Amino acid sequence: MRVLIIGQGYVGLTISVFAADSNQVIGFDSSKLVVDNLNRGLSHIEGISDSKIKRILADGSYKATCDTAEIGEPDIAVIAVPTPLSENREPDLAYIDSACRTLGENLRKPTLIINESTSFPGTLRNYIKPAIEKYALTKLEHLYAISPERVDPGRTDFNQKNTPRLFAGLTKEATIGTRAFYSKFCDNLVEVSSPEVAETAKLFENTFRQVNIALVNEFAQIAHSLGISVYETLDAADTKPYGFMKFTPSAGVGGHCIPVDPTYLAATAESHGAPANFIRLANEVNLEMSRYVVDRVAADNGGSLVGKKVLLVGVAYKPDVADVRETAAEQVEKHLRDRGATISWHDEVVGTWKGEKSVPMDGYDISIVITKHSSVDSKEILKSSPYVFDTTGKVPGAQGF
Ligand SMILES: NC(=O)c1ccc[n+]([C@@H]2O[C@H](COP(=O)([O-])OP(=O)(O)OC[C@H]3O[C@@H](n4cnc5c(N)ncnc54)[C@H](O)[C@@H]3O)[C@@H](O)[C@H]2O)c1
Repeated sequence: MRVLIIGQGYVGLTISVFAADSNQVIGFDSSKLVVDNLNRGLSHIEGISDSKIKRILADGSYKATCDTAEIGEPDIAVIAVPTPLSENREPDLAYIDSACRTLGENLRKPTLIINESTSFPGTLRNYIKPAIEKYALTKLEHLYAISPERVDPGRTDFNQKNTPRLFAGLTKEATIGTRAFYSKFCDNLVEVSSPEVAETAKLFENTFRQVNIALVNEFAQIAHSLGISVYETLDAADTKPYGFMKFTPSAGVGGHCIPVDPTYLAATAESHGAPANFIRLANEVNLEMSRYVVDRVAADNGGSLVGKKVLLVGVAYKPDVADVRETAAEQVEKHLRDRGATISWHDEVVGTWKGEKSVPMDGYDISIVITKHSSVDSKEILKSSPYVFDTTGKVPGAQGF
């Protein structure tokens, strides 16, 4: 099969690499930098090695491009572009729209179009299909399907092969084609009765995490007020062999999924007149965690942070990835700045953040650990300043929740 994959980020490149084992893949991306690096065999995604990219380039099963002339006549087109929130924190389908334009204007024959981007229920049926038809230069009877992506970047125990994949087509033919495509590199395909079920299941999975993270973040505050260890209490609760799943507190939630996807579900719920109170509240609790952390740090340091030199340790949104999207470090930094602190940061995995480079961990008044990469030594963190507040629970000897 000739497969076109729109978007060569975390999701699109991962799919490209797996699909290239049994297909001819064109990885289309609007970023020339991404495309140039990929064609030089340089991966920008954790878990996808340069050697893997080089191998599929060399055997001719993969090529990256930002030139629509190279799209050719694919049998299958996969959409894997960002679905962020707008400035007023509403679903923003601008990238999806632009991908639909690329498909509409360039597809020359009926194609199976599969959306992997996370979005609200009805996106495939009511947005993607009409948008592609609107942009099409000639009328073509494409097939449409959804298979929401569940990749967890940096994770090694679950990958494309062993993570069950939900899917559904708008038509039976689309469903059959989608099963055939993924069955080459995924062992467990779960067909659901409609695209809307697949779209909503994806949102609910991430909402489940968001709500439970908010609950444990609130619980960390309760435990502190009671003078008991939140970690010991959670470990104690976790000895129950059923009906409990352990989540751990943090400075907030980050990444492209947990802070974003639940809002897609909430917006859809509210547009249908259904409540989304839980989701909205969980979002608030998680956002407020950064303020709570800074309050705790200030309280431990005489109440004022004016003029204090503060080091943020780990600005990626989670360990062992370089992704800083929606990172809680951003909010913590803002609250620290509002209180007159001067802020530096250390994160060799991220390297460059907001135009600045990671600094060495030495000579600060206060260090706050936001994310602990496995390559960072706890002892080095403890030496970085006389007071260390660890939001991860992974630095023995530091202050924390
Ligand atoms: N990153 C994850 O862990 C993850 C997991 C599951 C689902 N998702 C979902 O998958 C989708 C993609 O996320 P991602 O993390 O891969 O994003 P990403 O930012 O890593 O990659 C997106 C890529 O798409 C490119 N792009 C944007 N608009 C384009 C267009 N019109 N044409 C061509 N290329 C375009 C960008 O240049 C970028 O390289 C989102 O809906 C996200 O919510 C992400």
